[in-house]
Amino acid sequence: MKVQTTPIEGQKPGTSGLRKKTRVFMQPGYLENFIQATFDAIGGGTGKTLIIGGDGRYFNKPAIQTILKMAAANGVAKAIVGQDGVLSTPAASHLIRLNHADGGFILSASHNPGGIDEDFGVKFNAQNGGPAPETLTEKIFAATTVITQYLIADQGDVDLGAIGTTHLGDMRVQIVDPVESYHALMETLFDFNAIRALFAGGFTMRFDAMHAVTGPYAHAILENTLGAAQGTVVNGIPLEDFGKGHPDPNPIWAKPLMDLMMSDAAPDLGAASDGDGDRNMIVGRGAYVTPSDSLAILAANAHLAPAYAAGLTGIARSMPTSAASDRVAEKLGIACYETPTGWKFFGNLLDADKVTICGEESAGTGSNHVREKDGLWAVLLWLNILAVRKLSVAEIVADHWATYGRDYYSRYDFENVESDKANAVMQALRTKLPTLFGQTHAGLTVSAADEFSYHDPVDGSVSENQGVRISFDGGGRVVFRLSGTGTQGATVRVYLEQYAAEGFDRDVQAVLQDVRHAGDAISELSALTGRTEPDVIT
Ligand code: G1P
Ligand code: ZN
Repeated sequence: MKVQTTPIEGQKPGTSGLRKKTRVFMQPGYLENFIQATFDAIGGGTGKTLIIGGDGRYFNKPAIQTILKMAAANGVAKAIVGQDGVLSTPAASHLIRLNHADGGFILSASHNPGGIDEDFGVKFNAQNGGPAPETLTEKIFAATTVITQYLIADQGDVDLGAIGTTHLGDMRVQIVDPVESYHALMETLFDFNAIRALFAGGFTMRFDAMHAVTGPYAHAILENTLGAAQGTVVNGIPLEDFGKGHPDPNPIWAKPLMDLMMSDAAPDLGAASDGDGDRNMIVGRGAYVTPSDSLAILAANAHLAPAYAAGLTGIARSMPTSAASDRVAEKLGIACYETPTGWKFFGNLLDADKVTICGEESAGTGSNHVREKDGLWAVLLWLNILAVRKLSVAEIVADHWATYGRDYYSRYDFENVESDKANAVMQALRTKLPTLFGQTHAGLTVSAADEFSYHDPVDGSVSENQGVRISFDGGGRVVFRLSGTGTQGATVRVYLEQYAAEGFDRDVQAVLQDVRHAGDAISELSALTGRTEPDVIT
């Protein structure tokens, strides 16, 4: 049936889909408008196959029922849905590719907390399994501004719990095990026998699923297949509110895991993943690995895993990510690419086989096996490398720095800043950019300063205003950008980096002090926002 509607303001997808407060999504017509706009933007649903699933957070199931009814009314031929409406983001990406589907809806607000008073999100992934590129998200947004009606089947709910095929009107609905295909894919990428032998030899691990989507995946793969001791996976039952936690795998939000790893009782490896299973944290006994370093180390050692034995074609990293992986690319004699923040910018490079591995400083790493970042994939690649090299995490990191030098790195987040103040910070920086070159601030001389624009080498598209980057003589850099995933106010992110060719065991914040002060002096962030200390340091 057709339902008359009018445009709802603010349905502009951000870094990763449309993310809003759950109650906003629950308003009548809100989800419906966005889903219909997506159908309108992709040329309708007729005859299409779609993958549908989410991270299991509050409102996941009702939203899936609505999407299914709308898909049926829009002429979709087949919907493949994770049992109970659950699919991790990388598993959904894989299912799109495996089934040659036309795309998929992934319901998640990633690492943002879940619950009726927290966050919800929807993103559309395209045929290649990757997040809709900017050209498509712009079309979707444009469609939300002119929408007049949406289509929805007048049918009862589908039983999402029963694996098998059913129908909703003329649409076939196939309910699948969320883990099975993903599990099979991982077996093709890694040397499971070597990892099994590692665990059999007494290797110990803790994987914190943070009550989010990776619990079932991690139990099946790590414990039941690879032989990690039962109990390796903690917080393995997905909950609608993630146990009231903040399912973001970093030293702040995964503090219990960090505390364990820094204690005498630490296992050999600690790892965690986020709400929808695309982020990862890696920490060895007494040794936290920054995501930027993890990307570089994985790239340098990937050939030890069967899928990457022939080498990498190239490496891509988001602009704010440290230059550590560039050094690896240089040594390997392969290309490296710098893209804007957000996984959608890696899709073209992966499709064109220009890169094999990609990563972001925000705990995302992945490869050409899917078109999303993949938390468990990163953990399994680490395990494969540890199994072959027979060194500890700390030893592998130390060896990496000894070879390439160390990119000291930290990110400061200033959250819930009033939007106009946050914009004023960026505007002030923009105004100063042309005169910064050669100036000295806090003892550091500016060697380059610009606002990052990305020219996609595959489709020629240009993405502007992707963050201000200021480099200093001596290998320092500060980057400023506004978050595109928040649901309240603005978040100013300040990314600090300092290269060191020696002295690898210094205090991170102490090494970054000069860059921080230079960034403060140039940006006037404190004066313009009234904030001196960040809310979160990672
Ligand atoms: C953040 C991260 C970014 C990541 C995105 C989705 O986006 O910074 O790297 O791709 O979440 O997980 P932001 O809030 O900075 O726009
Ligand atoms: Zn995520």
